[in-house]
Amino acid sequence: MNICVLGGTGFVGTELVTRLALDGHWVRVPTRNLARAQRLRVLDTVELRAADVHAPTALSQLFADCDAVINLVGILNPRRGASFHAMHTELPGRILAAARGAGVRQVLHMSALGADERAPSQYLRSKAGGEAQLRAAPPSSAHTQPAVTIFRPSVIFGAGDSLTNRFAKLLRLTAGFLPLARARTRFAPIHVLDVVEAFRRALGARVSFGRIYQLCGPDVMTLGELVRLTARVARLPCHIVPLPDAAARLQGLVMGLLPGKPFSLDNFRSLTVDCVCQEDGCARLGIEPQHMEAVLPSYLGDDDTETQLALLRRTADR
Ligand SMILES: NC(=O)c1ccc[n+]([C@@H]2O[C@H](COP(=O)([O-])OP(=O)(O)OC[C@H]3O[C@@H](n4cnc5c(N)ncnc54)[C@H](OP(=O)(O)O)[C@@H]3O)[C@@H](O)[C@H]2O)c1
Repeated sequence: MNICVLGGTGFVGTELVTRLALDGHWVRVPTRNLARAQRLRVLDTVELRAADVHAPTALSQLFADCDAVINLVGILNPRRGASFHAMHTELPGRILAAARGAGVRQVLHMSALGADERAPSQYLRSKAGGEAQLRAAPPSSAHTQPAVTIFRPSVIFGAGDSLTNRFAKLLRLTAGFLPLARARTRFAPIHVLDVVEAFRRALGARVSFGRIYQLCGPDVMTLGELVRLTARVARLPCHIVPLPDAAARLQGLVMGLLPGKPFSLDNFRSLTVDCVCQEDGCARLGIEPQHMEAVLPSYLGDDDTETQLALLRRTADR
């Protein structure tokens, strides 16, 4: 197939585009910054294109000759003119319209678990807005209307994530002392390659047309437990200081003013709801997702084979 992947240079995108290219697909990846896409450069069937996906005619040019479009564009906090509404709500609507015009058969869209128009954070509300734009499409693959498939993952981990790697970095910097907002919020972290597999299986599969898939890993854990597991695998000291909500809000306000916004009030609000699945999208796609404990040592641990085997055994014994 010919596939255009928006957001294909990011954490999930790089893994997905690589896999699709290895599967024999031809993949077009627009980016604002070609240098960001180093890893994709070596793949013969990947065409990197410098493009601004928000420019009026960019999408119809990008989607020419494409059978499918995948949208992974997303931000955790607004910055430099990029609002949640523009990125998560308007863009999916424009993608659908351009895909329709270009005769694209399927649009696969990355949303987020907890996307809801009544959600506490702008991030989650804007993701719900994007889903609503796409759901306006009928669940068919009629010539004039692309079929739509939506994915709602919990937090995603893997080599190059900004979750476990960021916590490991913070623990290193602070000798293990970590003031943590909403330490009891529950997550079901899913491995990036399982997310990639979900997209692969849904691609071109009629059964996925018009569907929403919630994607969760097999382990439900609190944020505190996730940090402790990261510390254990990376062999770092870990002393979590759970923050009361008032202090966590203040932390969000202050850190939201720092360059790069490492944490924000909106991030805090997203953390006030659990991020666990209500239905098993992986099972519906025939995927058995990997345990976090089995994967983390491959990129966070040291090269101590015994440690890695012990962790794998513990997972297998469960
Ligand atoms: N990672 C997670 O834990 C997680 C969990 C749930 C849902 N998601 C969703 O999954 C998707 C992918 O996440 P990710 O972790 O792979 O994100 P990422 O690494 O931050 O990558 C984001 C991608 O979006 C593009 N992008 C960012 N800002 C843009 C802008 N202003 N205009 C155009 N393109 C822009 C970037 O492209 P260029 O910089 O190359 O232009 C990049 O390829 C997102 O929609 C995210 O909300 C992620």
